[in-house]
Order: sequence, then C-alpha cells, then structure tokens
Amino acid sequence: MKLHVTDREGGEHELEGTKGWRVMEIIRDAGLPIAAECGGACACATCHVYVDPAWTDKVEPRGEEENDMLDLAFDVQENSRLSCQILFDESLDGLKVTLAPE
Ligand code: FES
Repeated sequence: MKLHVTDREGGEHELEGTKGWRVMEIIRDAGLPIAAECGGACACATCHVYVDPAWTDKVEPRGEEENDMLDLAFDVQENSRLSCQILFDESLDGLKVTLAPE
C-alpha cells in the first residue's frame, strides 16, 4: 500500500503504508520533517497536512477535537487534516497528502 507525500520543497515521496498506522506515523517513520509534537494526541497541530482533493471524500471526516485544534493552526484550508487522526488501511492505498507549512 502506498502513501504519496509532497514535502514543503515540492519533493515527492512514495512511502510504504502500514495498515493500522496513523498517516503521521508513516510520514515520521520515513524520516520526513513532520514535528508531531504531541505524538498523535490531537493536541498540537504540528502534523498538519493537506489531503489531495481527489481523496478528501475517502478519508474519514474530521472529528470535533481535530476541528478545534485546526482552529488554532495556520494556513488551514478546506482539505486540511491532522495526519495523526487518519488511520491508514487498504481503502487509502495511494493516498496523496502535502505537508503544510511549519
Ligand atoms: Fe499532535 Fe497530530 S501529532 S495533533
């Protein structure tokens, strides 16, 4: 299963996704620069990504806590997500995300 990540310089990375991992964990494990300061507790917004518009309907909608945290984040767009709140599985094989500015 693949996860495609565009970094902040526009570089593209094809990562091997693991079922049951959070998208944030896959990105961090690959060594890409994602701060994820709270470790996935939905309490920092430093795992902010933009989901490719082709995929926004396929990921589970934002939860209430995630919305609250995104209210405090910068450069939030319609397709903004906290990547620690997206669980990866087969249905997301090929998912594309872009790292939001720090
Ligand atoms: Fe902190 Fe996602 S890692 S909100």
